[in-house]
Amino acid sequence: MSTYFTTPIYYVNGEAHIGHAYTTFIADTMARFSRLKGEDTFFLTGTDEHGQKIEESAKANGKSNQEFADQISGTFKNLWDDFDISYDKFIRTTDADHKVGVQKAFEKMFDKGDIYKGDYEGNYCVSCETFYPEVQLVDSECCPDCGKVTTIVKEESYFFRLSNYEDALIKLYEENEDFIVPRAKKNEIVNFVKGGLHDLSVTRTSFEWGVKLPTSMNDDKHVMYVWLDALLNYITALGYGSADESKMEEFWPASIHFVGKDILRFHSIFWPAFLMSLDLPLPKSIGAHGWWTRDGEKMSKSKGNVVNPKEVADAYGLENLRYFMLREVPFGQDGDFSQRALMDRINSDLGNDLGNLLNRIIGMSTKYSEGVIDSSNVLKYHQKEIDEAEAIVSTLQPYLDNLQLHRYLEELWKLFFIANKSIGDYEPWAKMKEGKTDEALALVALVANILARAVTLLHAVMPRTTSVVADALGFEINADSYTSLIINKELLKTFSVKKTDPLFPRIEEPLMQEAPEAMKEEKVESKKKTKEEKSTEGLITIDQFFETSLKVGTVIEAEEVPKSKKLLKLQVDVGEETPRQVVAGIKEFYSAESLLNTQVCVVANLKPAKLMGMMSEGMLLAARDEDGLCLVRPEKSKKVGTSIG
Ligand code: ME8
Repeated sequence: MSTYFTTPIYYVNGEAHIGHAYTTFIADTMARFSRLKGEDTFFLTGTDEHGQKIEESAKANGKSNQEFADQISGTFKNLWDDFDISYDKFIRTTDADHKVGVQKAFEKMFDKGDIYKGDYEGNYCVSCETFYPEVQLVDSECCPDCGKVTTIVKEESYFFRLSNYEDALIKLYEENEDFIVPRAKKNEIVNFVKGGLHDLSVTRTSFEWGVKLPTSMNDDKHVMYVWLDALLNYITALGYGSADESKMEEFWPASIHFVGKDILRFHSIFWPAFLMSLDLPLPKSIGAHGWWTRDGEKMSKSKGNVVNPKEVADAYGLENLRYFMLREVPFGQDGDFSQRALMDRINSDLGNDLGNLLNRIIGMSTKYSEGVIDSSNVLKYHQKEIDEAEAIVSTLQPYLDNLQLHRYLEELWKLFFIANKSIGDYEPWAKMKEGKTDEALALVALVANILARAVTLLHAVMPRTTSVVADALGFEINADSYTSLIINKELLKTFSVKKTDPLFPRIEEPLMQEAPEAMKEEKVESKKKTKEEKSTEGLITIDQFFETSLKVGTVIEAEEVPKSKKLLKLQVDVGEETPRQVVAGIKEFYSAESLLNTQVCVVANLKPAKLMGMMSEGMLLAARDEDGLCLVRPEKSKKVGTSIG
């Protein structure tokens, strides 16, 4: 099986920021997963170097267009190399073979009758390199996407008959539920297309920095519209229009084009229409992710609050940043970067759950067996824990298939919980004292095996770190070990642990300067928001609602927390293997006994938190007014674990 993942090609009018890094991390992660599973994978990234915007930036910097493009493209490439991004090709739209491919595509569309010559007059946004019809303008002159003032452009232009593809596009969206991910975004696109598509101006005459029309057109006044030029990179990178199209045969159509939500329209409307015109198969999926803000504010150069990914990676660790970004935000939703949130993920998920587990394994095995770990008694004593771990592993793949990387990681983390809990439950140090050495060593081997599975499954997200852990556990993560540990469920061969330096030293204080205060307070003007955004502001989509997992549970144990006026400690059965411990601030309104065997509604996917030193793994739904608090409960008894929504 072959797979093909792409990032957008980034404009060379400024250096990479955290948003660019995010798309690139996602695509890199998916490509790495795919390779680990032994699939034949191609991963493309690169830079988008033509157009009026770049021409203007080059001028402002006193450089020629090409010099400027070379310089900024180089900074992207260096950054991705520095970040270990495993791309197979870094394409530049100024590459000679790309330009040839674009001209071939233009010719083909023209010969097919999909391109014709006409005149264009309209409002053009240079920043977005897009024409907008008057009805879409904000305050009759501003761009609905970026808010900047548009200019009226009148010029001769070639047009692509986009209007001819309306029905085919609607059919495409309707017949392919997963063409647009997340699915919630589909309606937005369907409505846009149903609103009527205008033919698209695909050449410009008012500037020169672009791919020339094919010589056969005999019209050298025109250069290609930058989006036509840019979108075609996904096929020219595979050799489209060149003498060797073998990669096209092998990897096209793309598995997923990863894009930010800002450019979903170009990818889900223009791109499939161009491909239909070229008689080429369509990509399987366009994955549109959300927007990153910093400390709740939109990032912009003028505010000086743009997060530089290199600076964060240098301060906090590249892979910690990757983990944070992929774990913190559900794919498709907007996310906020703050140092506090990043520190929490590092200290808690990575330090406490993962790093500590490795330390405990190294510590115990060094003490009990001179560092040797032998799996031969694992199944004799711990079949149950191995089964539990396998059950979790078997649920993971669908999360990846649906691009729910945050859920994938959330579920994967349960392996660390099982391993850490087993150590607490079986107390191998006590077993050693009782002379039950076999049992103590079996426990150490159990947790080493769970950790080995977990890091193999985490490898695509944190390649370097997981390789260090694997090395400490005597194996290497690759397609073979993936097959042996994950597919064939084999146990580790006997090995000697290697000591490692602490992987996630605790971070107590922010390591970078915060965004300037004045900038944090400054709110983004609503002028920049489209009408649609304004009317739905503060509302969430159904998909966002379902991000919260609400479940019916039955309280099976309840006790007061000593020395606390407010807290009760409950064990709530929510239909999982073990009950959830929920520490709830409801003691003033409910006695422990009155809750026993009653049903409650539990928020089941909250990050566990410690209250008065006790772990709380969920929250009860309750309503509170001036008369006090009451729990929200199902009206009739329902099976434990029933989803609410
Ligand atoms: O649009 N949060 O290039 P571009 C999340 N050249 N992602 C962000 C982001 C943010 N704040 N800011 C940018 C272009 N991105 C075209 C693409 S493709 C054929 C041509 C990411 O440099 C996100 O992926 O403006 C977005 O789609 C991309 O950067 C846009 O990069």
